[in-house]
Amino acid sequence: MGQQTIIKLVDENHMPQLGLGVWQASNEQVVKAIHTALEVGYRSIDTAAIYHNEEGVGKALKESDIPREEIFVTTKLWNDRHLDASAALQESLDKLQLDYVDLYLIHWPAPEQDHYVDAWRQLIDLKEAGLVRSIGVCNFHIEHLQRLISETNEIPAINQIELHPLMQQRQLHSWNATHHITTESWSPLSRGGKGVFDSPLVEKLAIKYGKTPAQIVIRWHLECGMIAIPKSVTPSRIKENFEVFDFRLEKEDLTAMATLDIGKRIGPNPETYNLVELATF
Ligand SMILES: NC(=O)c1ccc[n+]([C@@H]2O[C@H](COP(=O)([O-])OP(=O)(O)OC[C@H]3O[C@@H](n4cnc5c(N)ncnc54)[C@H](OP(=O)(O)O)[C@@H]3O)[C@@H](O)[C@H]2O)c1
Repeated sequence: MGQQTIIKLVDENHMPQLGLGVWQASNEQVVKAIHTALEVGYRSIDTAAIYHNEEGVGKALKESDIPREEIFVTTKLWNDRHLDASAALQESLDKLQLDYVDLYLIHWPAPEQDHYVDAWRQLIDLKEAGLVRSIGVCNFHIEHLQRLISETNEIPAINQIELHPLMQQRQLHSWNATHHITTESWSPLSRGGKGVFDSPLVEKLAIKYGKTPAQIVIRWHLECGMIAIPKSVTPSRIKENFEVFDFRLEKEDLTAMATLDIGKRIGPNPETYNLVELATF
């Protein structure tokens, strides 16, 4: 199997291009999934305060023999803590049993609250205090990013957005790239691949390359320059999703993948998503 790829972020820190997502997994499932993932070779884990499984992530990392500095841990600030990021991060660190996280993200802009710039200023301070290595955002549209940058002069290292073959976000990805923001794809498999894994194109490419539909889709993310964090709690799938460093998609196949884009969201629209209580996303 080829070597996994590592991305250099705007702040000069390095992040694995493929990680394990753990949304909708219980603490117990997460412990097992992370042990499998680390054995297979994953070195990046994506959790969030609202997933209520940071304890499981912490437990798995504590039990692992792999040195802390070799594992990239991401967690996120939930919408109800935009004015309280320092305490929220400390709660996450306690659950994770860590002194720092590698990446701390504002989970949603929640524009109705209009506190995301305040939250961003606090993340800048947390980075300066050494409690987080890199800072970034999720679900930010261009106008939200423009505001952050113009009001604070600090570029987010990452914009983690819904991105999969049915929703390719080419304009936002390209804007991110122009501004040195790395795009990270959430729901990279469009949450189990419905409408993607069974599309004639992906089925055809799976046969052509001798790979599974999930591997074709993950490889597509990597070759388009995104970071991808497919979620699985199934050992065979965790392994399958990592076996993507031994082939490349030809240019014509990447071009063909663009035709799958129908702008179909699975998750909510960040413009209107302001939820503070429910853990639906
Ligand atoms: N920032 C945000 O707002 C945000 C929002 C959503 C998600 N995320 C992050 O992104 C991660 C990934 O997104 P996601 O969990 O929504 O969706 P996803 O990774 O696109 O899909 C996960 C689903 O696909 C299944 N699956 C995984 N590998 C498979 C394979 N090889 N073949 C067939 N099915 C497979 C999983 O099932 P099993 O687990 O049963 O194997 C699970 O049901 C999340 O876990 C979370 O870390 C962030």
